[in-house]
Amino acid sequence: MTVQPSGAFEALLQEERRYPPPEEFKAQAIVRDPAVYEEAARDLEGFWARQAEQLDWFRRWERVLEWDPPWAKWFVGGQLNASYNCVDRHTQTWRRNKAALIWEGEPGDERVLTYQDVYRAVNRVALALKRSGVQKGDTVAIYLPMIPELPITMLACARIGAPHTVIFAGFSPDAIRDRINDCQAKVVITADAGYRRGHLIPLKDNIDAAVKDTPSVQQVVVFPRVGSDVRRVHMQPGRDVWWGDWLDAVQERECPPEPLDAEHPLYILYTSGTTGKPKGVLHTTAGYLLGTSLTHRWIFDLKDEDVYWCTADIGWVTGHSYVVYGPMANGATQVIFEGTPDYPDKDRWWRIIEKYRVTILYTAPTAIRGFMRWGVEYPRRCDLSSLRVLGTVGEPINPEAWVWYHEHIGGGRCPVVDTWWQTETGMILISPLPGLTTLKPGSATLPFPGVEPDIVDEQGQPVPVDRGGYLILRRPWPAMMRTIWGDPDRYVQQYWSRFPGNYFTGDGARRDSDGYYWLLGRVDDVLNVAGHRIGTMEVESALVSHPAVAEAAVIGISHELKGQAVAAFVTPRGGMAANEALAQELREHVAQKIGAIARPDRIFFTAELPKTRSAKIMRRLLRDIAEGRVLGDTTTLTDPTVLAEIKKQYEEQEG
Ligand code: PRX
Repeated sequence: MTVQPSGAFEALLQEERRYPPPEEFKAQAIVRDPAVYEEAARDLEGFWARQAEQLDWFRRWERVLEWDPPWAKWFVGGQLNASYNCVDRHTQTWRRNKAALIWEGEPGDERVLTYQDVYRAVNRVALALKRSGVQKGDTVAIYLPMIPELPITMLACARIGAPHTVIFAGFSPDAIRDRINDCQAKVVITADAGYRRGHLIPLKDNIDAAVKDTPSVQQVVVFPRVGSDVRRVHMQPGRDVWWGDWLDAVQERECPPEPLDAEHPLYILYTSGTTGKPKGVLHTTAGYLLGTSLTHRWIFDLKDEDVYWCTADIGWVTGHSYVVYGPMANGATQVIFEGTPDYPDKDRWWRIIEKYRVTILYTAPTAIRGFMRWGVEYPRRCDLSSLRVLGTVGEPINPEAWVWYHEHIGGGRCPVVDTWWQTETGMILISPLPGLTTLKPGSATLPFPGVEPDIVDEQGQPVPVDRGGYLILRRPWPAMMRTIWGDPDRYVQQYWSRFPGNYFTGDGARRDSDGYYWLLGRVDDVLNVAGHRIGTMEVESALVSHPAVAEAAVIGISHELKGQAVAAFVTPRGGMAANEALAQELREHVAQKIGAIARPDRIFFTAELPKTRSAKIMRRLLRDIAEGRVLGDTTTLTDPTVLAEIKKQYEEQEG
């Protein structure tokens, strides 16, 4: 593990632009008083307890926090229901007829659902799940495109206390199968197909292939997203049921929300780690709902009049926290879009903003870099004057992209909140508060009230100002993951052992003399490709499962648009021709094993890989080769001459 200084890091030290909150923004902001930071620092539990009054409880908690590191229990003794908080309570106020979801499909179809509409749908789906035998504590797998039925199904699960696991619609059958088997889902909810850039993603076919080897699955429910005149799917009698028939079989209209303990499991979301096996990150009910709803309200300065749009797919944590639970607990009106930014044209997003008068936009740096490359003519076609807050998440944003976003999308008037967090943290932990914080492009700025990060060296000692180190968190926060599903030892070992008593994020960072945090990227074997996490070991296991591959080592290389791209060094089995045809075959093989997001951009063939005496592949040296750096310490290699040979082969193939 190393925090590698790069050219980008040096450039960040030079960044001197400052953006204080505009006066008019400040005057109307929800959080205007910096005392919130002190209040939370002085009395962490009191701070969160006061904020927890914003949730609706069936039974009040007895203790705010039980902290037996690394095991946290928040709001012990309290009972509530996430679906009640995200839906029912809004239907008891004027928000009943407020638009909850303004949905636009890729082909241009539209649906607007009020909170009352969502209420009716969630109730019916919850009843149907029960009728299918799903009980409190059973897990449900969801593999749907970005359609309203996705948040509706999640909330229906939450209503009956059945933890959901949403599987991103870009994952392949193997990836689906492993996730379902890990969490033993009883029911799978999917669609016939999904749209992507005018093509169809065969969701039901993928499920059919996956559930051949998932003994826990008793029923597959299929939503007709494209319809049988577009694509016919196979329905297995006794196992598969159409969404409409499934709901029609339900007689009742109302399914009372189950009163659940504060720590009842809300969902499991799989994310890549440093081994070949994705981790099932477990989030529970009260702390998660509180953390996501409060950060959403404060960081985006959310008002009832706002039209909020988070462009993330619900299949990732950003969609869980900042499309479903945070915004809906806050009674927000939001846009949900099924498609991609460039279909049918590169102005699609800007048309959506103009059409629905979006006021808050939350997206990823990779998208912003793409727009920069396409040019300002696309946003200029549309009226973006409704926007008032912009957000980014998922990877470090380079100052140039930040400034471009601020100027060309935000018209120079909208604060840009660069929000740092992770699947594991559940909620945003480092971010500006837009009415308070002076922004510095490229910095996620300051910890959210009550959050205590630090930057330490290899020995766990705090590093001086402006020096890079490992980002850790010293105090618990309500939305923190509680464990890795079915593997508590791995939870302890992965996050809490390296710097005992502190949570290790896996990220490198530095802190400047104003206490601002500058994120430097992952320091472990996890890649961040276009804001998505991919484990190097996962891709390596996919590669070595191909008969032509003897060994493989995967690294991230810098990529102008994606931030990082997957590169693989592959040693073919004896006699296999190492040519472009094989490289192409291997790329497809990885896409089939995991999903298109993991497909390597570059494959280099080498006769050997650099290894230590204990046979550990030294990816660090491969990164040095790929980035054209001076080679680091090679003394631990079995055979240092191997490296010169790899470098030669690499340079030949690079051309
Ligand atoms: O490396 C950090 C990066 O994304 C990782 C978390 O990925 P994931 O769990 O998939 O969640 C992504 C959405 C929350 C982090 O360890 N990351 C996320 N946000 C930022 C970031 N890096 C720099 N700046 C950010 N704002």
